[in-house]
Amino acid sequence: MAHTLIAPSILAADFSKLGEEVRAAEAAGADMIHVDVMDGHFVPNISIGPVVVKAIRADSKLPFDVHLMIAPVDPYIQAFRDAGADIITVHPESGPHLHRTLQAIRATGAKAGVSLNPGTPAEAIDPVIDLVDLILVMSVNPGFGGQSFIETALPKIEALRKKIDATGRDIILEVDGGVNAKTAPRAIAAGATALVAGTAIYGGDSSAYADNIKRLRSAA
Ligand code: DX5
Ligand code: ZN
Repeated sequence: MAHTLIAPSILAADFSKLGEEVRAAEAAGADMIHVDVMDGHFVPNISIGPVVVKAIRADSKLPFDVHLMIAPVDPYIQAFRDAGADIITVHPESGPHLHRTLQAIRATGAKAGVSLNPGTPAEAIDPVIDLVDLILVMSVNPGFGGQSFIETALPKIEALRKKIDATGRDIILEVDGGVNAKTAPRAIAAGATALVAGTAIYGGDSSAYADNIKRLRSAA
């Protein structure tokens, strides 16, 4: 079985010491740092922007997996790339032209991802699958950490697994929301190759981060 990528979501970290939290995640064995960007418009919560991403960039050598929950999204792509994003993931609903947005992400040199909400079908990826390096299946509605895993994500992961295999390309299939030691093995069995986890990793004391990551990995 291939190595499952673990991406701690800093949304659940202690924002008063974000740099330290990013370093702790890397030291604990994370593979990527998941950065949730929210605008209070596309989703009902506001988090961080490019200046914060830039401020923590020096704290880790790991890829920054930047999940943009903002609309419009196109005007901010270059700013997040300049701030240090390695993968930039957008929602089709951010609009207005998903294909153009993915071209714009790739033009910056970043890898491009598409995120599918619980209410968005797997088929939404079909017209753009050739342009993506990552597909993010939301197993909660975007906007907040600490929500419960929505079961319909599992058949969607299975459907996307088939679509990815048919391309013959190595597209990361990531699941985000309510991922813990119980839900992680089911997501992996359905075909996910990357797990985002906020609460399940950053939820307790930093001395537990390594164990938290190990628990998710071994569950996988
Ligand atoms: C939700 C975010 C998630 C969130 C996950 O909009 O995309 O990345 O931080 O948090 P948990 O793991 O607590 O569900
Ligand atoms: Zn996310």
